[in-house]
Amino acid sequence: MKITMIGTGYVGLVTGTCFAEVGNDVLCLDVDARKIAILDEGGVPIHEPGLEAMVKRNVAAGRLRFTTDVDASVAHGALQFIAVGTPPDEDGSADMQYVIEAARNIGKRMQGVKVVVDKSTVPVGTAERVQATIAAELAARGVTIPFAVASNPEFLKEGAAVEDFMKPDRVVVGASDEHAIATLRALYAPFMRNHERFLVMDVRSAELTKYAANAMLATRISFMNELANLADRLSADIEMVRQGIGSDPRIGYHFLYPGVGYGGSCFPKDVKALQYTADQFGHPLTLLAAVERVNDAQKHVLVDKLIERLGSDLSGRTIALWGLAFKPNTDDMREAPSRVIIEALAARGARVVAYDPIAMDEARRIFGSAPYLSLAKSPLAACDGADALVVVTEWKEFRSPDFDELKRRLAAPLVFDGRNLYAPAEVRAAGFEYFGIGRH
Ligand SMILES: NC(=O)c1ccc[n+]([C@@H]2O[C@H](COP(=O)([O-])OP(=O)(O)OC[C@H]3O[C@@H](n4cnc5c(N)ncnc54)[C@H](O)[C@@H]3O)[C@@H](O)[C@H]2O)c1
Repeated sequence: MKITMIGTGYVGLVTGTCFAEVGNDVLCLDVDARKIAILDEGGVPIHEPGLEAMVKRNVAAGRLRFTTDVDASVAHGALQFIAVGTPPDEDGSADMQYVIEAARNIGKRMQGVKVVVDKSTVPVGTAERVQATIAAELAARGVTIPFAVASNPEFLKEGAAVEDFMKPDRVVVGASDEHAIATLRALYAPFMRNHERFLVMDVRSAELTKYAANAMLATRISFMNELANLADRLSADIEMVRQGIGSDPRIGYHFLYPGVGYGGSCFPKDVKALQYTADQFGHPLTLLAAVERVNDAQKHVLVDKLIERLGSDLSGRTIALWGLAFKPNTDDMREAPSRVIIEALAARGARVVAYDPIAMDEARRIFGSAPYLSLAKSPLAACDGADALVVVTEWKEFRSPDFDELKRRLAAPLVFDGRNLYAPAEVRAAGFEYFGIGRH
C-alpha cells in the first residue's frame, strides 16, 4: 500500500518504518527540516531500540522515504496517517493546531480517494473535526472527492516502540466507512498472524479508548505512590505489598512500581486533556484530578527525603544523579521527574552531576550551560566527591553497581533510590544509609 505518514516523530517514524518493513511504500513528512535532513543522511533523530537498523534496511530497499514537501506527501499515500504532536495547551486541553493543519493540507491538495487516519492521541470528536476541515477545503476548491476519516490510536511504548508495533496487544480502529475498515484490516494483517487483535468500534469510542488506557496506567502508578508514602510512615515495605497484591490475577503485576512519579510526553498531557474534555461536558473526573495531584507531589518526594537528611540549605553540596530520561531505553526527557529534581536541588544551592546512558544530549539541549548541572562520563564518575547519590531512572546498568567502589567515590555513603532498585538490607550491609520509596 502507498502510505503517507504526516509527522515523523516517535510515533510517525516508528509506525512508518514498521509499515515499510512488511512491504508497504511509505513516505514520511515532517515540517522540521532538521529531522528530515538527519534521516536523509542515514541518521535517526531519536533513540529507540532496533529502529536504526530497520530504517536503514527499508530505506535501502526503497520502501521508506522522507520529505518536507507537502505536495508530494499528499500525492503519495492513498492512506494518510496523521501522527503529529498534540501537546498540552495552557488550559490543559490538547493543542489541535498541528492535526488541523495536516487535515487542511490534505483537503487543499488531494486529487484521488483518500483514507485519512488519526494516529495522534486526540480528544473525542477530532475525527469529526478532521472530516469537516477536509470537506471545507474541498468545497472551497469546488470539487467532490470521496474520502473517509478513521481513528487508529497508537499504544506503543517509548523504549520498546518497534517491538510493540510489530507485535501489538491490539489494534483499535474507530470508523464507520467500510472501505476504510477493510483497508486498515488489510494493512494490519501482517502484524497479527498469531491471532486476531483487530478491534473495530465507532470513532468516538476509539478516541476515548486511548485516553482511558493512559488514565488507567497513570492511576495505578499514583495509587502505588500514595501507598508507598503511607508505607514509609507505617514502617511497612511497599515492595512486599506490591508482590502481595500483584499476585492476584485481577490486579496483576504491571504498572505497580512506586517511584518518583510518571513523566514523558503522554501520561501527563493525556491525563490533563481527558480532564479538560470531562470538564467541558460537565462531568469532572475527580479520581483523575487526584491522580495528577499525587504525581506532581511525588516528583518532590526524593528531594524531601534528601532535605530531611542533609538539611534544607544544600549550598556547597554536590549531588550525583543517575538517570535523566523519563524512563529507560529512551532519550525522551519531556516532563521527566529528573528535571523537577534537578531544579529543586539547584533551588536549594546544590550542584548536580548527572549521568544517563542515552539522554545526555537531550539534557544539554534542555539545560544549556546551566551552572548547577554538569554531566559525567560514567555512573561512577558522577559520584566522585558527591554528598549523596540520587537514582532517578531505572536503567539496567544502574541495577547492580559495585557498592564498594561507589563508597570510595562518594564523599558520604548516602543513597536515595527513587526507583527501589536495590535491596535496602544489602545496601546498608555495604555501609550506606539507604532511602527508598516506601521501604524501610
Ligand atoms: N511518544 C509516544 O510514546 C506516543 C505513544 C502513543 C501515542 N502518541 C501520540 O502520538 C502523537 C505524536 O507523538 P510523538 O511523540 O511522535 O510526537 P513528536 O513530537 O515526537 O513528533 C511529532 C512530529 O510532527 C511534526 N509535525 C507537526 N506538524 C506537522 C505538520 N503539519 N506536518 C508534518 N509534520 C508535522 C513535528 O515536527 C514532529 O516531528 C501525539 O498525539 C502523542 O500523544 C505518542
